[in-house]
Amino acid sequence: MEDFIRGMPKVELHLHIEGTLEPELLFELAERNGVMLRFGSVEEVRAAYDFADLQSFLDIYYEGASVLLEQRDFYDLTWAYLVRARADNVRHTEIFFDPQTHTDRGVPFETVIEGIHQALKAAESSLGMSTRLILCFLRHLSAEAAMATLEHALPFKDRIVAVGLDSSELGHPPSKFADVFARARAEGFRAVAHAGEEGPPAYICEALDTLAVERIDHGVRCVEDPELVARLRSEAVPLTVCPLSNVKLRVFNRMADHNLGRLLELGLAATVNSDDPAYFGGYITDNFLAVHSALGLGREQYVTLATNAIEASFIDQDRKAALRAELDEYMWS
Ligand code: ADE
Ligand code: ZN
Repeated sequence: MEDFIRGMPKVELHLHIEGTLEPELLFELAERNGVMLRFGSVEEVRAAYDFADLQSFLDIYYEGASVLLEQRDFYDLTWAYLVRARADNVRHTEIFFDPQTHTDRGVPFETVIEGIHQALKAAESSLGMSTRLILCFLRHLSAEAAMATLEHALPFKDRIVAVGLDSSELGHPPSKFADVFARARAEGFRAVAHAGEEGPPAYICEALDTLAVERIDHGVRCVEDPELVARLRSEAVPLTVCPLSNVKLRVFNRMADHNLGRLLELGLAATVNSDDPAYFGGYITDNFLAVHSALGLGREQYVTLATNAIEASFIDQDRKAALRAELDEYMWS
């Protein structure tokens, strides 16, 4: 089964590009850009990746991003992820980026998006992958700051498929960003939001009702509200679940406690993703393998998870059909 999981063609829908910054690249970029780090070695950095909750992770994640200054840095970061994802047989990936993490440090929006975009173009031509980019607003910052970020993004509309919402969830309900999301949708962006990771099921309802999102990132706390579960099932709302992240950030104590199998039993459109793989101990295949060793789902369920991701992606019907055909062929080979 492990070999089946490794070889399975995959689609990734929940991946923060800043969360793919491996400690080795962190040091390389720090040196290249003359940025002082408070860590002395890769081992010391890895040892610091012991999180009590989402906030304790975010503090170190924003600190790590301080080495990203030039277009080339964003290119190198993105390219390293794409090569790694290709090795996991990722065929299509939808990547989040957090522009405010960079623009608030004085890095121009253009520098960030140009570096990422050039790497995505290179992956399309030389790795045979398709890609999409999703701009996330930081929810611990104001709605006005999010609106200003959206304005920055408008000249680059053709490079960004959707807007999303991430960072500290508790105390920052989706409704805070209703106007920004309405404007983004009017401009033609699709919409997703993190909800129900640490926050209550009510935040998932709010994301659907006040932001009109098409997917929920995480969403694992939906099971606490049976009416919401019924709604997510009947509206076929995809959930981009990140198993290793959930254990690292103590949403679940152990992988054996994870509710991914339950979500599938409930008929929900769950998918498996890596969130911030450099910080949480693994890329998408590692997530599938960790789920397999703790929950022992069957081959049919792994294929369902992969199929759900194809259906939930923001690619056109022809590309979806090609990915479905490849997965089908893999299953029967
Ligand atoms: N930013 C990066 N990873 C995140 C997560 N898992 N939840 C919220 N914000 C994030
Ligand atoms: Zn996330």
